Amino acid sequence: MKLRELGQTGIPISPLGLGTVKFGRDQQVKYPWKFKIPDDQAVRELLSLSRELGINLLDTAPAYGNSEERLGQLLSNRQQWVIVSKVGETFENGQSHFDFSAAATRTTIENSLRKLKTDYLDVVLVHSDGNDQRLIEQEDALETLMKLKQEGLIRAVGLSTKTTDGGLWTVEHTDLVMATRNTSDHTDDPVLDRALQLNKGVVIKKGLQSGHADSQAGGAGIDEAIRYVFSHPAVSCLIAGTINPEHLKENAQLVAQLTD
Ligand SMILES: NC(=O)c1ccc[n+]([C@@H]2O[C@H](COP(=O)([O-])OP(=O)(O)OC[C@H]3O[C@@H](n4cnc5c(N)ncnc54)[C@H](OP(=O)(O)O)[C@@H]3O)[C@@H](O)[C@H]2O)c1
Repeated sequence: MKLRELGQTGIPISPLGLGTVKFGRDQQVKYPWKFKIPDDQAVRELLSLSRELGINLLDTAPAYGNSEERLGQLLSNRQQWVIVSKVGETFENGQSHFDFSAAATRTTIENSLRKLKTDYLDVVLVHSDGNDQRLIEQEDALETLMKLKQEGLIRAVGLSTKTTDGGLWTVEHTDLVMATRNTSDHTDDPVLDRALQLNKGVVIKKGLQSGHADSQAGGAGIDEAIRYVFSHPAVSCLIAGTINPEHLKENAQLVAQLTD
């Protein structure tokens, strides 16, 4: 899989990233099938298989249970990875909590650095709670991330958005957007069009509709879902979650074919 630059950040990333929700959280998730959180050995194997397949990007968040902590324990050679994490949402005792204040943002970053056993984060996104406009206009999370970037703790910042207007603002004012694109959700198309004009990074979430794209779950098929995501030239990377090594291989093979 050929690496490409994430917008203008200077960060080389693989076009397929590994989503790590299932490494740390099995409550209040929207997958079609029940699953068991993989043990340490299984996570180690998924990580080393990812590297073999050319994947260098890992997507995590404090909202994904103990995903960050497990990555910190199980990742070897941190320099080889591009770690994407988030601020604004935490998930504890079966519940999400949102806090987009400057103080919470700083504390979250300190915690992420400690859990991930690193002294920098490659990418940090504000994890939208749905009200992008309020986050942009009234909260301090993004401004705080920009200061932390100046302080050298973060290399690139952006928003994981939930609205088209929020996405449009994000591509104008930040390094990258995490947007939605799948065969039944085209609402972020204008965001991708604008990102292409501005050469900003675009990381796609929910490309496989949390697994509902699978034909066995009644969807059009994972292949079609992946092809659809990459049919827009603005897409820098698809984040796909999986804890199944065969699925990881299939996804990587197709993404390599579509992007090499
Ligand atoms: N920022 C945000 O607001 C936000 C929101 C949602 C997600 N995300 C990020 O995006 C990542 C992906 O999201 P997601 O986990 O909700 O869903 P997703 O990537 O759309 O789908 C993951 C599901 O697809 C299944 N899958 C993957 N490859 C497959 C294949 N080849 N064949 C059949 N099934 C396959 C996986 O099952 P198996 O494990 O069995 O392969 C898993 O249940 C997350 O891990 C997270 O990092 C971010």
